[in-house]
Amino acid sequence: MKPKDFLADLERRAELGGGEERLRRQRDAGKLTARERIDLLFDDFGMADQVVPGDGVVCGHGRINGRLACAFAQDFTVFGGSLSETNAAKIAKIMDLAMKMGAPVIGLNDSGGARIQEGVLSLGGYADIFLRNTLASGVVPQISAIMGPCAGGAVYSPAITDFTIMVKQTSYMFVTGPDVIRTVTHEQVTKEELGGAMTHNERSGVAHFAVDNDQECLLLIRELLSFMPNNNLDDPPRVDCSDPPDRADAALDTIVPETPQQAYDMAEVIRAVVDEAYLLEVHEHFARNILVGFARLGGRPVGVVANQPAHLAGTLDIDASVKGARFVRFCDAFNIPLVTFEDVPGFLPGTVQEYGGIIRHGAKLLFAFAEATVPKLTVITRKAYGGAYCVMSSKHIRTDVNYAWPTAEIAVMGAEGAVNILYRRELEAAADPAAARAAKVTEYREKFANPYVAAQRGFIDEVIQPRQTRAKLIGALAALDTKRDRNPPKKHGNIPL
Ligand code: HXC
Repeated sequence: MKPKDFLADLERRAELGGGEERLRRQRDAGKLTARERIDLLFDDFGMADQVVPGDGVVCGHGRINGRLACAFAQDFTVFGGSLSETNAAKIAKIMDLAMKMGAPVIGLNDSGGARIQEGVLSLGGYADIFLRNTLASGVVPQISAIMGPCAGGAVYSPAITDFTIMVKQTSYMFVTGPDVIRTVTHEQVTKEELGGAMTHNERSGVAHFAVDNDQECLLLIRELLSFMPNNNLDDPPRVDCSDPPDRADAALDTIVPETPQQAYDMAEVIRAVVDEAYLLEVHEHFARNILVGFARLGGRPVGVVANQPAHLAGTLDIDASVKGARFVRFCDAFNIPLVTFEDVPGFLPGTVQEYGGIIRHGAKLLFAFAEATVPKLTVITRKAYGGAYCVMSSKHIRTDVNYAWPTAEIAVMGAEGAVNILYRRELEAAADPAAARAAKVTEYREKFANPYVAAQRGFIDEVIQPRQTRAKLIGALAALDTKRDRNPPKKHGNIPL
């Protein structure tokens, strides 16, 4: 064959991946091919015209929203996208390049796992990738899209990365599949129930986003990247902001209900404050009693962490603590300021929580906020009770600016609980216990359940009108633009895992 014909043949074969029949099967399953995925993700992929038969993975770099990014896309039409020695070497190579260039790594996963024919060579290939995922953590952002099977030890690469997106219906993740489970534990479970997109978005928290199809997945990756810098030495990209910085939303003044037990939606508060009312929620379906996500204030990206009174009264439980802690650590690693909206009655009581280790899991959130050195701002909208007051980015753990709304109640516990403990005997002996209790509750509220005691001590910098929140936060962020803070020199801390 002439060299020209040979090259043309090579090009045609690479475009075909695993051949026409397998490409047809991929499309019939509602999935794009690896090369189509790369085309959609990038502005213009750097290696798009450098066609080589790819051994089941397409790797390279290109630009996303004009900024450099590296990616690999497993090609399910070639040996089920399974990981071979060569395939792993290509992924490792692009990851090494990403680290050198300070560019994010995006993994588009669609694979039957270790290539069975290659045995330990493919296992070694996985370990090479895991090492790089670990070393890159906190240096460049890493995003995993699960766009097909991801099983066995293969799940641990996405698990180490910062964000995992799963495509509904076509993707699944599990360490051991339904067949093994049936043999070992006699449980009957389908692939979808065991490791489908909603299982990992709602129950396990393994995945951060669920999307309807491949296209939505790739557009989400592009959007997610717009909130973060390319590496830990850069600042997050700012955008022009047409939303006035001093926009005051009067609805905020009445959003907190009169009754302390009544719920409201903290997402509404956040949307009323941030640029263009836009919040990209992360882990939307998991531990809904805490809300985390990206937004912008005056064009600057921020990480928002907020208690959600509309779910479990906004209490902190195990899942919420872990969800919050991981997000705080991502933002801190990548210079994204943290804005906390607080309305928390405390940690969720009960044996399930205590036996499950709420002590060590709750400590993760405390540790994460305490060690974070990025600009930190807190707004207490209502309750800030007990240990949760300390945890939720309080002044005591190095938060730079702490605001409270006039409706804030900063206390060891709620008025009802406190009165029952402090005045139990007195109330039992009272002629009218109900009236006596009500009087004591009012007295307690006036004395303790307000923001002014904390403000007198400097734990709150300012009690602000709710409608001023946007202007105040934008002003504080601008002032903190040059913030410098650091932790004592150490190899690394020992966050309670
Ligand atoms: C080599 C593989 C493969 C693998 C699939 N194929 N998995 N080839 N190594 N691991 C090939 C198939 O032979 C087939 O080839 C093509 O890919 C498509 O596979 P199908 O089975 O036809 O597709 P589908 O019905 O969609 O099923 C997909 C699947 C299934 C669920 C992923 O293929 C499967 O169970 N594969 C094995 C998964 C597995 O046990 N992997 C090892 C896990 S252990 P043809 O030529 O027919 O198109 C592991 C350890 C990692 O990964 C450890 C890291 C530390």
